[in-house]
Amino acid sequence: MTSLLLTGATGAVGARALTLALADPRVERVVALTRRPLADPDPETRVVLDNRVVDFQALPEDADWWQVDAVACALGTTRKLAGSPDAFRRIDHDLPVRVGELARAAGATSYALVSSVGADAGSRNLYLRVKGETERDLRACGFPSFTAVRPSGLYGGTRTRQENLGDRLAGASRVLSPVLPARYRPVHVDLVARALLDAAISAVPGEHVLESETL
Ligand SMILES: NC(=O)c1ccc[n+]([C@@H]2O[C@H](COP(=O)([O-])OP(=O)(O)OC[C@H]3O[C@@H](n4cnc5c(N)ncnc54)[C@H](OP(=O)(O)O)[C@@H]3O)[C@@H](O)[C@H]2O)c1
Repeated sequence: MTSLLLTGATGAVGARALTLALADPRVERVVALTRRPLADPDPETRVVLDNRVVDFQALPEDADWWQVDAVACALGTTRKLAGSPDAFRRIDHDLPVRVGELARAAGATSYALVSSVGADAGSRNLYLRVKGETERDLRACGFPSFTAVRPSGLYGGTRTRQENLGDRLAGASRVLSPVLPARYRPVHVDLVARALLDAAISAVPGEHVLESETL
């Protein structure tokens, strides 16, 4: 039975991953790190939900809830919302990596990240570069199992932030989906959430990349 630490549980992918985790027979406990409280789970659920409302800029190093088996990270923002390239990197890179460092130090053996199609630490594009750097630095944390899930544009689910141009383009490209290369076709948040959760829980040893067309 797996104890899972989840970030981004108020977002489109993370909320779906939380719902799936709370219904998953392989999971015994979910520690959800959020900026604001989650709604109470279905009272019928067998899985314990431990919602910790935290200051992500000052994550407590010695909290006992870091002691989990697996981490699933669906946290992220946009450059526009963050306000600057540096602020974007502090969220999309520094927070997932810090969570990884602290959970690994407490014994977690598996980490699954929602990254992005085209993630590349050498890219000239800020978003793709930051996503690639995040993958790279999480690999360096030494998790026995690490998975980068690399979706193309997402559709479905409920975003907590206002939709941006990227979201609208993802929506529009659904019309073109049949003629797009498979890797760039929009993908439903449910498929991303399922892949994220399965990767974190199954903890297959090694480093894995799940490209969008495989989700
Ligand atoms: N949208 C797309 O088309 C797309 C495509 C490829 C990859 N991705 C990646 O997929 C991931 C999930 O995307 P999504 O669409 O599910 O995002 P979303 O709906 O906007 O949710 C983002 C989550 O991250 C949290 N978050 C944002 N800024 C934070 C901060 N400073 N501190 C702590 N938590 C913070 C949000 O918490 P609050 O509710 O508190 O704001 C929310 O839980 C992101 O990493 C994104 O880059 C998205």
